[in-house]
Amino acid sequence: MTLSPHNMDIKAFIFDLDGVIVETSHFHYEAWKKIAYKVNGYELTREDNDLLKGVSRIKSLDIILDLAKASLDQKDKDALLIEKNDDYLNLIQDLKQSDLLSGALDFLNASRDAGIKIGLGSASKNARLVLESTGIMGMFEAIVDGTNVVKGKPDPEVFLKGAGLLGFKPNEIVVFEDALKGIQAANSGGFHSVGINIETELSAFNLNSFENITPQEIIERIQNQNR
Ligand code: BG6
Ligand code: MG
Repeated sequence: MTLSPHNMDIKAFIFDLDGVIVETSHFHYEAWKKIAYKVNGYELTREDNDLLKGVSRIKSLDIILDLAKASLDQKDKDALLIEKNDDYLNLIQDLKQSDLLSGALDFLNASRDAGIKIGLGSASKNARLVLESTGIMGMFEAIVDGTNVVKGKPDPEVFLKGAGLLGFKPNEIVVFEDALKGIQAANSGGFHSVGINIETELSAFNLNSFENITPQEIIERIQNQNR
C-alpha cells in the first residue's frame, strides 16, 4: 500500500534505542545489578530497573543510591559510572543484527520504503556504537543521543532536537518508546507516542513487538484516534 496524501500527515518516526529497536535493556540491568550489590548489598529488582529505563547513566546511579539508601562522594560515583559502562560494553561486545527486537529490522525497512523519515532519540551515550554493531546506522536520517542533550527524558529535548534535524513538527512524528519517562517526554513535546513492551495509558497504544504490524497500520491507528 502506498501512502495517500491524506495519511501523509505523519512524516517521520523517531525510535528510542534500548528496549525498542535492540534487546540491550537486560544488559544495562545486569551491569547495574552488580553496581547496586557492590554499593551495599542492594538487590536491584526488575521493578527498580523499570525506573532506570530511558534515564541517563549519571541519573541512574543517583536513583540506585536512593533505592539502596547509600550516599557516595563524587570520586566514588565516578568510579562506579566507569565500572558500569565497562561492564556494559563488555556485555554488548558481540551485539549483532540478530539482537534487534523481533520485527524491528523489517519495520525500519518498510518505513523507509513508505517514504517515512527515521530518527533515533536515545539517552544512551553508546547509541552510535550499538547502531554500528547491529548494522543499522545508515537507516537513520537523524541521530540524537545522550551525547547531544542537556536534559534527560521526561524532558522532550531529545525528541525536539530529532524533529528539528528531520525538519518536521512534533505532531507529524510518531515516537516509539519502552520507558514511561520516554512516553512522557514524547507527549510533552507534542509528539504521538506508541509504547513498546510497556503497560501505560499515556501512549496512543502499545505493542509487544514490531511483528505483524506495518508502518501504514501505525499511522492509521494514530489518525483514527485523532479524528
Ligand atoms: C537508555 C537506557 O537508553 O540509556 C538506560 O534505557 C541507560 O537504561 C541510558 O542507562 C544511558 O545509557 P548509557 O549507554 O549512556 O549508559
Ligand atoms: Mg528504552
